[in-house]
Amino acid sequence: MGLPALRAFYWRFIGYILLEILAVYFTLKQLFSKHSKLTHSKTHRNLTAIVTGGLKGIGLEITRQLLQRGVTVITASLKKDTDHDTLKDLQTKYKDKIVTNLTINLGSLDSIKKFVEQFTDLGLPVNILICNAGVMIPPYMETEDGFESQFGINYLGHAYLTHLLLPHLRKAGTPDCWARVIFVASSVHYGGELRFEDLHGRVCYSPERSYMQSKLACVTLALLLDRRLRAEGAAVAVSAVDPGVVRSSLYQFAQWYHFSGPAWPLLLTTAQGSDCAVFAGLAGQLEGRGGLYIENCKPAAPNPLATDQLVQETLWRETKRLLGIESTW
Ligand SMILES: NC(=O)c1ccc[n+]([C@@H]2O[C@H](COP(=O)([O-])OP(=O)(O)OC[C@H]3O[C@@H](n4cnc5c(N)ncnc54)[C@H](OP(=O)(O)O)[C@@H]3O)[C@@H](O)[C@H]2O)c1
Repeated sequence: MGLPALRAFYWRFIGYILLEILAVYFTLKQLFSKHSKLTHSKTHRNLTAIVTGGLKGIGLEITRQLLQRGVTVITASLKKDTDHDTLKDLQTKYKDKIVTNLTINLGSLDSIKKFVEQFTDLGLPVNILICNAGVMIPPYMETEDGFESQFGINYLGHAYLTHLLLPHLRKAGTPDCWARVIFVASSVHYGGELRFEDLHGRVCYSPERSYMQSKLACVTLALLLDRRLRAEGAAVAVSAVDPGVVRSSLYQFAQWYHFSGPAWPLLLTTAQGSDCAVFAGLAGQLEGRGGLYIENCKPAAPNPLATDQLVQETLWRETKRLLGIESTW
């Protein structure tokens, strides 16, 4: 075994152990904590939300909760055929509410652009954008644009979508009803680092490290965007949330997934996993407040790298370069 292979093996091993330790620690933490959720059932009939991955897993439950509270929901979903039945069920169940799906592939900048064009044609505002869709620890794959899949889908795709929707968000936010952007991150972002010299893991790929990096990037971007938008005077608040450790198909690539049945009851249901994002999207006490990392419906301290302004600026510069964004920020 040569030196590069040994190094790759070492980092894979470190990434794997770190992610497992964090997952076990946060599972135990949530087992011994009282689960919190938004309790008031005020209706929000004039609000429109976009939920990426809004027809499956945690995203589907976010969609349900928003519909129950009277919010118009546009789901941004990848698979047309399987999603169709779920969408029909929602439309039947919440007859008086509006729910529509527009297809998006967050691994394709073209598809994201098309999604925003189609959304713009609907003539709706965007009061709440929930960047929820994601993939976890797949084998090395690249998106249509040549980005490592987790960094590309979880982070860059959502960064691009948010960037394209900023004019809509700025327009929708008012002093008494700010627009809100919520990145569904993860507690494992604490194990992340932003490897600017190898963001796509081409030199050394560890699926676990790439996942943790993609979630750290989401938290970092949320804090940077909130600061920039606030400085500009826009009524748009940006935060990141941890949904908890939730049983869902996100774990399909985990080695223990197929024989982990007995551990499943220890995890949150997808309905519980949706509570923190719904809280961040609707809670009255968060009006005008952003730049937060929210865990179990309470602000928590994120990974210190995410609050470091030099790290934020470097990430944003690199993000703009990769996405071809021209911005004076
Ligand atoms: N489950 C957990 O314990 C946990 C913990 C922390 C954070 N999270 C985060 O919570 C979010 C939701 O995860 P989940 O547990 O609900 O997982 P899930 O059930 O696997 O749902 C993931 C969603 O992302 C969508 N998606 C994947 N690739 C996409 C792409 N290229 N373009 C558009 N959509 C895409 C999927 O669509 P298709 O089904 O059509 O592929 C699906 O709707 C993720 O961001 C995840 O990282 C989950």
